[in-house]
Amino acid sequence: MSDNGFFSMYDDEATYEEEERVISRERLSSDREDAGMRPHTWEEYFGQEKIKANLSVFIRAALQRGEALDHVLLYGPPGLGKTTLAGIIATELGVQMKISSGPAIERQGDLAAILTNLQERDVLFIDEIHRLNRQVEEILYPAMEDYALDIMIGKGPSARSIRLDLPQFTLIGATTRAGLLTSPLRDRFGMMLRLELYEPKEIAQILKRNAGVLSMGITEEALRVISSRCRGTPRVAIRILRRLRDFAQVMGKDTIDIEVAQKGLEALEIDSLGLDRTDITLMKNIAEIFAGGPVGLDTLAATSGEDAGTIEDVYEPYLMQIGFISKTPRGRILNRGAYEHLALPYPDRRGGTENAISEAQAGEQLSFDFGEALE
Ligand SMILES: Nc1ncnc2c1ncn2[C@@H]1O[C@H](COP(=O)(O)OP(=O)(O)OP(=O)(O)O)[C@@H](O)[C@H]1O
Ligand SMILES: [Mg+2]
Repeated sequence: MSDNGFFSMYDDEATYEEEERVISRERLSSDREDAGMRPHTWEEYFGQEKIKANLSVFIRAALQRGEALDHVLLYGPPGLGKTTLAGIIATELGVQMKISSGPAIERQGDLAAILTNLQERDVLFIDEIHRLNRQVEEILYPAMEDYALDIMIGKGPSARSIRLDLPQFTLIGATTRAGLLTSPLRDRFGMMLRLELYEPKEIAQILKRNAGVLSMGITEEALRVISSRCRGTPRVAIRILRRLRDFAQVMGKDTIDIEVAQKGLEALEIDSLGLDRTDITLMKNIAEIFAGGPVGLDTLAATSGEDAGTIEDVYEPYLMQIGFISKTPRGRILNRGAYEHLALPYPDRRGGTENAISEAQAGEQLSFDFGEALE
């Protein structure tokens, strides 16, 4: 990070995982080269059609009125394209984007400095916005609402507050944890957009475009095999593509064909559904140690050596999307599909099984779901 508290746009300095899993959704150090691959226009940004359609209307309307776009909150699991989308929004608006992040803004003065440096209608992108501290958040409220900064001058009885006008700006907040946002902050966003996991055919489009950027060919057959193994996550897809390029290269090929894809995926230990060893261990633990669940997140974390937050943000969304794990009020349970995939016998829980299923459904409604709450 540079001295002025901003991240340069693509120089992500987030913490990198120590052991680098190819299918990790988190940003890894090897993803740094991704900068050149980041889409800059709607045409290069595949999937998320609903979000794209809505945003382009709002952007056009803001441009016609000559006003700043309303504040936007982007949320969803890591690697789905939040930062990329923020960049495209700024480009479409024809303004500069200043980048910072929740943990980087420690004091009110840091945020005040950032805000007073914005130009009219600029975009301020705050990554991991759920990690802003409360004092900082408080000065963000009037800034978002009235484009004003309230500053206290002096101390004790003679202290008074003065109000500074700010340029009109658009705050784009990104978070993997919308549920952790305080409600006053959440309420000040005009748009809350949830990014969804991508369909294999959208992942295939991303793979194809990125193969082009890497000057590699890729066959349709290979695309079909690879695209369903990327956990619906562009960051994972791009990383796998890069490893496959290495395999192609040592095999003396300039195209990723089915042979390269199969050899590579096997060597990378990515199975037919894109699951790796950690997913398998997690599911096996639920099956073997907890008799299929329900098991609480913290207990599961303790037995699998993964951090609870990582399980929740990185592993679970995909395992839930493919229906292998369900959330219930009493914890996670493992579903039939997972047993079949692990080649383990599905326990005959009789009444218990039915219970588990109805609990799973109840759990879905109980667990706080931002998307649904909005619709
Ligand atoms: N819709 C998309 N089309 C094409 N490429 C994409 C798309 N979304 C993301 N990517 C690619 O995936 C990579 C990860 O995206 P990005 O960094 O924007 O994710 P993120 O949601 O901000 O992740 P994090 O939560 O870790 O910050 C980028 O390098 C980008 O090139
Ligand atoms: Mg990001």
